[in-house]
Formats: sequence, structure tokens, C-alpha cells
Amino acid sequence: MRIVLIGSGYVGLVSGACFADFGHNVCCVDNDPEKTAALRAGKMPIFEPGLDELVAKNVASGRLEFSLDLAGAVPAADAVFIAVGTPSRRGDGHADLSYVYSAAREMAPNLEPGAVVVTKSTVPVGTGDEVERIIREARPDLPFSVASNPEFLREGAAIDDFKRPDRVVIGVDDDRAATVLHEIYRPLLGNETRMLVMKRRAAELTKYAANAFLATKISFINEIADLCEKVSADVQDVATGIGLDTRIGARFLQPGPGYGGSCFPKDTLALLKTGQDFEAPLRIVEAVVASNDTRKRSMGRKVVHALGGDGHGKTVALLGLTFKANTDDMRDSPSLAIVRTLQDAGAKVRAYDPEGMDQAAKLLDDVTYCESAYEAMEGADAAVIVTEWDAFRALDFDQAGKLLKEPLLVDLRNLYDRQDVERHGFRYFAVGR
Ligand SMILES: NC(=O)c1ccc[n+]([C@@H]2O[C@H](COP(=O)([O-])OP(=O)(O)OC[C@H]3O[C@@H](n4cnc5c(N)ncnc54)[C@H](O)[C@@H]3O)[C@@H](O)[C@H]2O)c1
Repeated sequence: MRIVLIGSGYVGLVSGACFADFGHNVCCVDNDPEKTAALRAGKMPIFEPGLDELVAKNVASGRLEFSLDLAGAVPAADAVFIAVGTPSRRGDGHADLSYVYSAAREMAPNLEPGAVVVTKSTVPVGTGDEVERIIREARPDLPFSVASNPEFLREGAAIDDFKRPDRVVIGVDDDRAATVLHEIYRPLLGNETRMLVMKRRAAELTKYAANAFLATKISFINEIADLCEKVSADVQDVATGIGLDTRIGARFLQPGPGYGGSCFPKDTLALLKTGQDFEAPLRIVEAVVASNDTRKRSMGRKVVHALGGDGHGKTVALLGLTFKANTDDMRDSPSLAIVRTLQDAGAKVRAYDPEGMDQAAKLLDDVTYCESAYEAMEGADAAVIVTEWDAFRALDFDQAGKLLKEPLLVDLRNLYDRQDVERHGFRYFAVGR
């Protein structure tokens, strides 16, 4: 199959590289000349484990190419995937669909009869109808299909998620699109992957419902963690106790500083807006969004409290800035609110993140970036684990104790056992225990 992906970001690039690895011929088109030039030179615009090798291998085999030329790529394609961003619209939280609609307008003049256009971007229910309308307006006589194929990959494990997904969701309103998408995903279907074929609107909504449910699980355990702190219970015990119930499941029950990243914050907000527009308010998701918003700053206050209630004259070593490990993505990371809360309280911030410091430097002022966790701790009054990078799972407490002014660890990811840390003479604050 010949596949065009519009957008060479996290989703477009990973999907393109994996489709090529399945044996399809793929052209990733992006309208960012710098990104496209870098990709052609073998330089990845994002940090994602294994991606550079996968891209290099498939470029070398001739199955994967990068282009700025949408008009040139589209006519030969069996399917054109839209994988552009759908950020929150400034001011109201609706998904900004302008990139999706421009992609539809740009491809329309070059589509061949029988073309299958697939929305992979996360888009509100009904967006496929509008993409179809835009193309039909430009090409009234063209037979074509518009399908939805939402993407569920996680940053940091994106390639594995794409190649071994829990399920592939296909939203189609005609047989032709179903046949083409089945052919594209056929290499996966032998691997016990279920391909769910449903109507386009159901597929669009499935993605938002999945993200909102996962965000709910995170916020639920975070609030239970707060209650655990008040009643002297260990949230890890409670999480294990409920997670072993197969109706609940253990994943996404790790308490922490709140969810962030490029998806959950914007997708929960967009789903709320859809609910309001269709007069089906989503009260549970509203509570999740509010709970998560307040949580991020409250984690900053927790650090100030550990410092004795005042940040003035204090320095904090932040270990980790990205919203989770194994990514350089800083979008809506809890660290942003934590740093600002610490600075508002008068504290200075030194920080180390294995991959996220370049992105962080674009978003945060007055932070001293360091080459290692230990450099960040030099002369600081506390170390704070914000992201669960492996590099922070086995800190040398003897060395840390000598570098820090005070042996104080605030562990917002519960990476350590209290007894282990206290044995080294540290004061230890964790989440919900
Ligand atoms: N990042 C994730 O983990 C993830 C997971 C699942 C779903 N999604 C969804 O996938 C979509 C894409 O997310 P992302 O993180 O890959 O975004 P991204 O911002 O990393 O990449 C989007 C790319 O599209 C390009 N682009 C925009 N308009 C274009 C156009 N008209 N022609 C060509 N290129 C264009 C941009 O230059 C950019 O490189 C979003 O809807 C997102 O919600 C993301």
C-alpha cells in the first residue's frame, strides 16, 4: 500500500515509520521545512526510544521518505492520514481543528477517485463530517471516503504500542475505507490484535472517552492519596488492594503530581466542550479537570511545606521536568506549575532532566539547568523527584547527602521506600504515605 501521512510529529512520524516497517511505502509530509530537512538528514525532532533506528532502517530500504510536497505525494496514495496537531483553542478549551481542516483543503485538489482520507489526529465527534464536506465542496464529483483511526500510542513506548496495540479502532461509514484500512493493518492482525470496526462518530468519541477514563483513574488515586496522608494510610497498599480486582486493573493507579502531556489535558477539556455543545454535560470529567488543575500547584506547596513553610533563601533541586519518563515532551507538564509555585514562594530552582531541558528552557524562566541529578543537588536545601526517570530510581544517598545543604527528599513519584531513605539520614516526603 502507498500511504501518505500529513504531519511528522509524534504520531505521524511514529505511525509512518511503523507502517513502513510493516512493508508499506510511506511518505511523511510536513509543512515545517526545518523539521523535514532534519528528518531527511536522519535527525529526529523528538526523543522517542528506538525511533531513530527504525526511521534509518526504513529510509535505507526505500520505503520511507519525508517531503514538503503534499500535492506531489497525495495522488499516488491508497490512503492519506491526517496526523496534525489538535491543540486546545486559546480561550475556550475547544479542540483547535484549523490544522486538520487546512490539511483537508490542501489535499482536496490532488485526491484521485477512490481516495481514502483517514483522520488519525484526535478530533471531536463530527470532525469527519466536516472533513468530508470540505473535500466535497472542492471536488463535488470525486468518489472518496473519510475514515477515523484514532491513535492510542503512548510517548516513551510509542513504537511498541503502535506495533502491539491493545486494539486498532477503525471508524468507517463505507466498505471501501474498511477494506483499505484492513489491508494497511493486516500485518498486525496475526498478532492477536483486535481490529474494531465501528461507525466514524463512535471511533472519534472512543479516543476521547479512553483518555478521559484514564485521566479519571489518575485523579481518583491522587485524591485517595491525599486522604491517605490525612488518615495515616499508605496509598500504595490501597492502590494494590484495589488494582488486583480485575474489574479495576492496576495500571494508572500510581499517585503523583497530576497528569500532563500533549493529550490528557487538552482532550479532557475538549470532551467537556463537546458534552456542553450537545447538552450532555460530563460532570465526572469536569471534576477530574478541576482536581488535576489544583493538584499541580499543590505539589509545589507540598515542597514548600517540607522546606518549613517558606521558600525565601532556599534552593530546590528538581529531578525531572518532563510530564513522564522517556520523552522530551514538556507540554502541560506538572513541573511547570511546580517550578512557578516554588518561585512564587521565593525559592530558587536548579533542575536536571535527561531529555527535557531544551524544551523546558523555552517555557520556564530563572531555572538553573544542570548536567546531572547530583550537580542539581549541589548546595540545594531539598531534592524533589518530579519525573519517574530510571536515572532517579537508584540515587546514591551518601553522595546526595554530602551535596545537599539539608538531607531532604520529596518524592512525588513514590520511587523509594521510606525506611531505605531515612536509613541514610534523610527526611522523606512522598505522595499518600
Ligand atoms: N503525542 C501523542 O502521544 C499522541 C498520542 C495519540 C494521539 N495524538 C494526537 O495526534 C495528533 C498529532 O499529535 P502530535 O503529538 O503528533 O503533534 P505534533 O505537534 O508533534 O505534530 C504535528 C505536526 O503536524 C505538522 N503540520 C501541521 N499542519 C500541517 C499541514 N497542513 N501540512 C503538513 N504538516 C502539518 C506540524 O508541523 C507538526 O510537525 C493530535 O491530535 C494528538 O492529540 C497524540
